[in-house]
Amino acid sequence: MLQHKELRMTQYNIPTKKLRMGFELPVLGLGTWMMGGDINRDPNNNDAADIKAIETAIDFGITHIDTAEIYAAGFAEKITGQGIKKFDRKTLTIASKIPPQNQRHDDLLRNLDASLERLETDYLDIYYLHQPSLEIPLEETAKALNKAVKDGKVKHVAVSNFNPERLDRLQALLDTKIVANQLHYNLVFREPAHKGVLEHCIEKDYLLVAWRPIRFEKRGNPNAPHKNVWEQGAYPLLDEISAKYKKSNVQTAINWVIGQPNVVTLVKSSKPANLLECISAIDWKLSDEDIERLKREFPGQESVSDTVPMA
Ligand SMILES: NC(=O)c1ccc[n+]([C@@H]2O[C@H](COP(=O)([O-])OP(=O)(O)OC[C@H]3O[C@@H](n4cnc5c(N)ncnc54)[C@H](OP(=O)(O)O)[C@@H]3O)[C@@H](O)[C@H]2O)c1
Repeated sequence: MLQHKELRMTQYNIPTKKLRMGFELPVLGLGTWMMGGDINRDPNNNDAADIKAIETAIDFGITHIDTAEIYAAGFAEKITGQGIKKFDRKTLTIASKIPPQNQRHDDLLRNLDASLERLETDYLDIYYLHQPSLEIPLEETAKALNKAVKDGKVKHVAVSNFNPERLDRLQALLDTKIVANQLHYNLVFREPAHKGVLEHCIEKDYLLVAWRPIRFEKRGNPNAPHKNVWEQGAYPLLDEISAKYKKSNVQTAINWVIGQPNVVTLVKSSKPANLLECISAIDWKLSDEDIERLKREFPGQESVSDTVPMA
């Protein structure tokens, strides 16, 4: 594995995946969940380190940064705004998300403005419905999204944790093409594969943005049934396949996700050395046979997300 010192000055060319309609995303972007706190703002968080992590990521060639209104009660958006400040905004793809409880027409537009203000930007490249609301009619939400796009505040609309049927219903109400569905997808959590999303995204031309590609353990749960990929010896199959390619388990886990059609991913790291390990996951390829073997044989697979199931 390349060490941080060797890589410090390098800028990586992160390849993209492009939809038939022209929209493209880098195969690896930076997540911001746990920057600034969890759902709540953590006053003891090292904000300077998180801002620096975003700057460093961009220096390394990351251009897609993913945040959300609910991360650290809005503070992750503030950190993101600080982290992107010294770069040319046009070169970046900034994504944020509106939670289900704020998807009424006026709430969405008001909260979008608040997100833009925290991010200190005039527009979002991608605005996700973070999770579907089971109470607010999609028609009302779609009307607000259409206005946000018309007003130039949102370039592309996307969804997160949506099942294909609900995505199709929203699409029929929108004036623009949905570009992505962001879902829990990794070697353990296989809901998108088991529920037909992978096929649906190829057929209907949207990207599957896989969240949480390397962390399987539920934070703070001492009885969590899964280990994280970076824990040595946790997954002998992963050890074996990683050794074959002379890669780390983190790199194999990321490469497996992005080795599948229409799938790109996001990782969060506030540590440059960790991020570099993730970036070094993308300039090589697992063989189709090894992708299939990991699909079939990886232990402890789950068909439903333990965090945000599709709805
Ligand atoms: N749409 C949704 O509902 C949803 C839900 C969850 C997440 N997301 C998005 O997806 C992004 C990624 O998911 P995630 O943050 O939950 O999980 P993740 O990226 O799979 O894992 C993040 C964790 O892995 C650690 N890490 C990163 N690189 C590492 C390495 N090379 N070696 C060891 N540890 C490493 C990080 O710690 P350090 O910082 O210490 O490196 C952090 O604790 C989020 O940040 C968020 O933007 C979306």
